[in-house]
Amino acid sequence: MKVEINGKSTQCSPRPGQCLRTLLREHSHFEVKKGCDAGDCGACSVLVDGQPVHSCMYPAFRAAGREVVTVAGLGTPEDLHPVQRRFVEAGGFQCGFCTAGMVVTTSALTEGDIDELPQRLKGNLCRCTGYRSIEDAVRGVSNIEQPTDGAASGRSLSAPAAARIVTGTEPYTMDYAPTGLLHASVLASPHPHARVLSIDTSVAESLAGVRLVLTAADSPDRAFSTARHDQRADDPDDTRVIDTVMRFKGQRVAVVVGETLAAAEAGCRALVVEYEELPAVFDTEAASRPGAPLLHGDKGPESRIADPSRNLVAELHGATGDVDAAIAEADVVVSGRWRTQRVQHVHLETHGTIGWIDDSGRLTLRTSTQVPFLVRDEICEIFGLERDRVRVFTARVGGGFGGKQELLTEDIVALAVLRTGAPVQFEFSRTDEFTVAPCRHPFEVDVRVSARSDGTLTALSVDVVTDAGAYGNHSPGVMFHGCGESVAVYRCANKRVDAKSVYTNNIPSGAFRGYGLGQVIFAVESALDDLARELGMDPFEFRRRNVVVPGDPLVAAHVEGEDLMFGSYGLDQCLDLAQQALRSGNGDPAPPGWKVGEGMAVAMIATIPPRGHHAEASITIRSDGCYEIGVGTAEFGNGTTTVHTQIVATELGTSPDRIVVRQSDTDATTYDTGAFGSAGTVVAGKAVYAAARAMSDRVRALGADITGYRDRLGQLGREGVAYDDRIVSLKDILVAAGGALRTHGDSGGVPRSLAFNVQAFRVAVEPSTGTVRILQSIQSADAGTVMNPQQCRGQVEGGVAQGIGSALYEEMRTDGAGTVITDSIRSYHVPQFSDIPRTEVYFADTYDQLGPFGAKSMSESPYNPVAPALANAIRDAVGTRLYELPLSSDRIWRSLGS
Ligand code: FES
Repeated sequence: MKVEINGKSTQCSPRPGQCLRTLLREHSHFEVKKGCDAGDCGACSVLVDGQPVHSCMYPAFRAAGREVVTVAGLGTPEDLHPVQRRFVEAGGFQCGFCTAGMVVTTSALTEGDIDELPQRLKGNLCRCTGYRSIEDAVRGVSNIEQPTDGAASGRSLSAPAAARIVTGTEPYTMDYAPTGLLHASVLASPHPHARVLSIDTSVAESLAGVRLVLTAADSPDRAFSTARHDQRADDPDDTRVIDTVMRFKGQRVAVVVGETLAAAEAGCRALVVEYEELPAVFDTEAASRPGAPLLHGDKGPESRIADPSRNLVAELHGATGDVDAAIAEADVVVSGRWRTQRVQHVHLETHGTIGWIDDSGRLTLRTSTQVPFLVRDEICEIFGLERDRVRVFTARVGGGFGGKQELLTEDIVALAVLRTGAPVQFEFSRTDEFTVAPCRHPFEVDVRVSARSDGTLTALSVDVVTDAGAYGNHSPGVMFHGCGESVAVYRCANKRVDAKSVYTNNIPSGAFRGYGLGQVIFAVESALDDLARELGMDPFEFRRRNVVVPGDPLVAAHVEGEDLMFGSYGLDQCLDLAQQALRSGNGDPAPPGWKVGEGMAVAMIATIPPRGHHAEASITIRSDGCYEIGVGTAEFGNGTTTVHTQIVATELGTSPDRIVVRQSDTDATTYDTGAFGSAGTVVAGKAVYAAARAMSDRVRALGADITGYRDRLGQLGREGVAYDDRIVSLKDILVAAGGALRTHGDSGGVPRSLAFNVQAFRVAVEPSTGTVRILQSIQSADAGTVMNPQQCRGQVEGGVAQGIGSALYEEMRTDGAGTVITDSIRSYHVPQFSDIPRTEVYFADTYDQLGPFGAKSMSESPYNPVAPALANAIRDAVGTRLYELPLSSDRIWRSLGS
């Protein structure tokens, strides 16, 4: 059949049952993205005869004789469609994975549709932005400043990849198809706990198109953790590429590699597996009892599991003062048990890796990861390879939120490539994301707090249990971090922290935005809200009286070491800004008959993860006269490419368009621990800043001066430096330097600073249904120097949106026997355009002594105070306290009935 694709008549032969999305991608239209393959997310949207459709649901044969337009057919980076230009000017994206579909859908809107955006955009999800910048793009609001002479830092400059993102020409991991590419598919365990006794592979191996079957017998004999950290010993070694014991439903039993994905899947279906089912345990209390089924009872101390004989991954205990005595003497005491649920990241790009052997015989992995260097190092550990025999790199990463700080697809691809010698890809489906990929840890948090009648906090105690699921990836770190700044943010003489993380036969938990802090902050901030209520104090005033200020020791389970300090302090400003905004009474009016309430919560976060997060970076003057930044961190929507460009442009007195960034490639750049812990600006950014400083020193050492030349550049119309009383080009400087000029910088690591966020809400609750409507959403943030106001505001808006979703309705539900029931976006409820209010964002005016140009991190932390602020507002509205997330309408309704 013939299809007109972007104005070109194209001969196509769709397979029976094939959808338009896969057909288009097979014709190299990689701008058409895969987010769900279920018609839920809209990342694959294209126009068919002018109408936007989800191409994953559109039968390919129906496109015969029709006109199909993808985002790349609307415009090019050099000649943008007006809608594409508006998305650039508004900064209407972060990771950009939803953008191709968003632009396509928006391009079909009429003037009359603009007032019906919640309906018109309901088929297009964005997980990053919180939709405000997308609405701005649709309405033609510009948030971006044009680059001009002068310092680039502190300005809302556009992302360097903006024009490519809005035209679909920026490649992501799976937008590449080497010749002879094979596909891997996984047979998933149907049992939550079972031993694999045998696998008959004979039928599968005889099928047409099946190239290889891999079982535990093919797996390297090396235990590891899918979690990746700078120090690999931070996580227990409890996982194998393919194991003989299944510990959760969905775990890999075997892998089939085929010439097509269909052949690989058919091979999986043909495998005959004999299992011995084992007793399983699904809640932390049962798993902690003597005699409970043990998940890793076969493992010894080399696994670094705290106590395999008790299903104990890790534990933490510490105290200062005497909590019991303080509570006995207090005027007011509040205690309670708060629970949080499993949450999925739902980054729109699923996990995926393509691997091959390069011309020099090295294993090469192109993968969607936040941590390319840590993936390389662990692949070398698992397969016994030298580091110079492995290259790992990322294209642009389509969102992560911590979910891509795991090694989930790379090991299978590496094994398959090493065995076949052919290129192999393995890509998670959206169902895999819900049933196999680690989720946010469920927490159970007992809190006891007490105060004197004058409002002085006298005791703060937390007792935390987290459900690690079947494997301990990230569980020690999430537990430690969750009990850190959530407790340390309060000045209180008597504190106690007890925490443990427990194995169960549930889906593994892992890293998620906030890394445990959000769960404990939900409990602590809810308890303190009740305490302030009991005291009759305003919640802002109660916080002012009790939060830490510079000079206070930072105490959680223990007194924090000197590596954590106040490089700046803006919590006082954040409290004032949020309270003033709430007092302004802005926001929507409440519907008649609804109950109205206000609530707030605070959050503190260390700007750098502890224990060795570090980065190196380089600056090179290229022969084409541009500066090239080499930096290892990955861009996944956090905006570091823009910020690093701004840092270098400011330090070297040049314009951003003269800077090229090479990043996240173990071959092309020097070491970087990775894009997690909000480290892109304050760790990698510091390394980039140091490399830029070194470059300006080198240029000056050559007798040139990079300062003050700019005034004369206008006359020359080109970039250059002052040298020998002349303006010369960077190429001339390169010649003066002997043909090569590269400088290096290092992040240095410690000490670490602290950032702050205060969230406030005014809500209305409909008492007969428990429905919540957010009337006003406010977040004030202390990000130090705000390097790029539009991007930083977007991080806050996106964090608040994700926080609202997991506070009000997102929940990975299981059947109580290890099966995830909510295995699709449709059954899970990712916030849509209509769900998210515009958040007023305010920044404290501070300058951090430790961050580059005074900046602090601001990616994870906006999420953390959202759930307790909503819970406190709902409590204020309806008079009952909810102790469990999500704060769903049925839960609220039931609480009112009781
Ligand atoms: Fe929309 Fe990332 S920018 S999903």
